[in-house]
Amino acid sequence: MDRELALELVRVTEAAAIASAQWMGRGDKMNADDAATTAMRTMFDSVAMDGVVVIGEGELDEAPMLYIGEELGNKSGPAVDIAVDPLEGTNIVAKGHNNAMAVIAAAERGALLHAPDMYMDKIAVGKYAKGLIHLDDPIERTIDIVARANNKRVRDLTVIIQERDRHEDIIQRVIKKGARVKLFGDGDVGASIATCLSHTGVDLFVGKGGAPEGVISAAAIKSLGGDMQARLAPQNDEEAERCKTMGLRDPEQLLTLDDLVKSDDAIFAATGVTEGELLNGVKFLGGDLTETDSIVMRAKTKTVRFIKAHHHLEHKPHLVTDENA
Ligand code: FBP
Repeated sequence: MDRELALELVRVTEAAAIASAQWMGRGDKMNADDAATTAMRTMFDSVAMDGVVVIGEGELDEAPMLYIGEELGNKSGPAVDIAVDPLEGTNIVAKGHNNAMAVIAAAERGALLHAPDMYMDKIAVGKYAKGLIHLDDPIERTIDIVARANNKRVRDLTVIIQERDRHEDIIQRVIKKGARVKLFGDGDVGASIATCLSHTGVDLFVGKGGAPEGVISAAAIKSLGGDMQARLAPQNDEEAERCKTMGLRDPEQLLTLDDLVKSDDAIFAATGVTEGELLNGVKFLGGDLTETDSIVMRAKTKTVRFIKAHHHLEHKPHLVTDENA
């Protein structure tokens, strides 16, 4: 893939973030998501690539835009798989909470796991613990391993876990072991990536979340030199069957980082929608001036760029999505 594609993809996440940020705190997650999806879809038209959506807003009959199998780009560039989450954290934006982002992962054609929309068990760590973790290890053992790798005492180690009833047992075990628990409400892409960025202070991510989010996170974690393992968690026979129709012979298979993203030719781009640990949210600075904060990285070179941009909405009227604005 051309390296220019990375910067093109940031323009796409910026547009989605600006469009959805206008719905922050309005209690309307549908409009926030629609605004992000429409802006993202429109921006993709001008990107020099021959893209196809492998993870998107749903199947063709469920989603009018960014559906699985939809072709994206102007066809003048490389053949790529595209995974999108136009608004990662729809509830976050509706409530005005932290850590919502617009995210995209791209990889050479065939390299991204076509993860169905179901739950997935996941574990993620930064580069020092790479190669040392196993999804099936007891959490107590994993904590010892990651603490040693990150040169921390167990009591200084931070484990980030999504605040859900299904995680109550693991939360109690982490507490009993003596490590620190950081709970988050929504948005496990940002939470898992935080393990790879030392300034966040997060060492270990564990828990069950969306499978599509897992594949998108894996592109970022690969670019940051971290590690991740996962396993699909179908909740019923129908979901187990869906794994097979999507080409996964064994839904129980342990998925390594290389199974989730098969190539090093991968890109991850994200723009903050609301304030977060990883990125600042969209800021409306007065007049039509709008600030975005983004991150973009390539697995091949491991270059990570943080991009702060100022946009004049006067020149981007299509991104004004709130009729009250
Ligand atoms: P949405 O943006 O689709 O609302 O997803 C937010 C999210 O927190 C994901 O980050 C996570 O993978 C998933 O929901 C967890 O699902 P659930 O809310 O069912 O626990």
